[in-house]
Amino acid sequence: MSNAEHHEGTRRDFLYYATAGAGAVATGAAVWPLVNQMNPSADVLALSSIRVDVSGVAEGSQITVKWLGKPVFIRRRTAEEIEAARSVDLGDLVDPVARNANLDGSAEATDENRAMDEAGEWLVQMGVCTHLGCVPLGNAGDYALDGGVGGWFCPCHGSHYDTSGRIRKGPAPQNLPVPPAEFVDETTILLG
Ligand code: FES
Repeated sequence: MSNAEHHEGTRRDFLYYATAGAGAVATGAAVWPLVNQMNPSADVLALSSIRVDVSGVAEGSQITVKWLGKPVFIRRRTAEEIEAARSVDLGDLVDPVARNANLDGSAEATDENRAMDEAGEWLVQMGVCTHLGCVPLGNAGDYALDGGVGGWFCPCHGSHYDTSGRIRKGPAPQNLPVPPAEFVDETTILLG
């Protein structure tokens, strides 16, 4: 083999490998999202559930955590908020369904069916307006109690949610959804 031929061969090999390499990368990129959705790997599953320490959440306040890329409101309600939520006539609700992933899909929207615990102190819900997905403001809207406690208001198009996160007024069609959630010890909530 002459020097020139040798050179040519090496160059061809290089081009071949470079092309094969590029093809492999492109295929990988196209296939990965599908694999991800259809057969989640262990690390993706791990991310789909998170533990939240709620020991620092005072009565009448809420924290917002990010879960699966979306905000989740975790609120520790006052006795007044619970009382207001539980005294609502179900016939006054826009959306009669609890929207609680921990219950049967047909469960009605009583406050008992939306709160995490029997006493109703903890309310966990997605912080995503069911109209077009804005993040509602807490302690706001027509269903906040005197002094601006409880309730949520979405300023995008004016949706008002009561102290149980149920839609009461405005264009949003559904109550704020309650995600899969449970207490794994006294001060830790597992989301997902
Ligand atoms: S997105 Fe909330 S009212 Fe439209």
